[in-house]
Amino acid sequence: MDNFKGQVAMITGAASGLGLSIARKLLNEGAQLALLDLNENALLSSFDEFSDQVMCVGIDITSQQLVEETVSKILARFGKIDILVNCAGITGQTNLKSHEVSTENLHKVFELNFMSSFYTSKAVIPNMLANNYGRILHIASIAGKEGNAGMLAYSASKAAVIGMAKVQGKEYAENGITVNALAPAVIQTPLVDVMPEAQVKYMTDKIPMKRCGTLEEAANLAAYIVSPLNSFTTGFTFDLSGGRATY
Ligand SMILES: NC(=O)c1ccc[n+]([C@@H]2O[C@H](COP(=O)([O-])OP(=O)(O)OC[C@H]3O[C@@H](n4cnc5c(N)ncnc54)[C@H](O)[C@@H]3O)[C@@H](O)[C@H]2O)c1
Repeated sequence: MDNFKGQVAMITGAASGLGLSIARKLLNEGAQLALLDLNENALLSSFDEFSDQVMCVGIDITSQQLVEETVSKILARFGKIDILVNCAGITGQTNLKSHEVSTENLHKVFELNFMSSFYTSKAVIPNMLANNYGRILHIASIAGKEGNAGMLAYSASKAAVIGMAKVQGKEYAENGITVNALAPAVIQTPLVDVMPEAQVKYMTDKIPMKRCGTLEEAANLAAYIVSPLNSFTTGFTFDLSGGRATY
């Protein structure tokens, strides 16, 4: 399959979970990749044999300066960026009521979940505008649509991401660039593994299909959203929740 042949995708959080499965899918379908993650060793161990097609960058994407420098390096190597997928994210502390939330932890969650997606999109959009083509996907969460009790920082940061997709979708609608979000319910990844059991039960109990989503399901939907086929949907938050959100 070569659905992404000739295209360049930048993916954050690509060393694990959703980012890793989306990266593998786009690679299999012919894309060249720039993969950004704190965990450079994990990136290299997954993609070492594809070094002609894949650029692995160990980076903390909460640094706007590092993000800008990295985008310049990607453009120097591949010449363009067609696709941006923002996957890096953390839940921060959970299973806490709002009056118990640490302000410092809330800032930390926003810094990664919202600010870094602003930094990456701000850095790549000028190249997409020059090419009159782009596909941006921000991974949000059902928590951003519905608000998960016990997850103030995470839910509010993901609602902010959904808001950003709506704004950016409209701003670049006449420039060949679509900007969308994706709202998964629960997919078993290291992010979920470290959460308190009670919080995970709260989330999974709300899924009408009575199961978690799979990484394959996430990668398939994400690949469609960032493909040329997705040409008339922008500013939208795609659902991946086994029926939890029907809007
Ligand atoms: N797994 C789920 O159930 C679920 C549900 C809804 C939304 N999401 C969202 O999907 C996205 C991916 O989640 P996942 O479950 O694959 O998580 P994960 O923990 O498996 O992967 C996240 C990756 O982000 C990287 N990362 C963390 N901080 C970083 C930083 N400062 N700079 C660069 N990289 C950093 C980590 O090293 C890791 O490789 C997140 O935005 C998450 O909020 C996940």
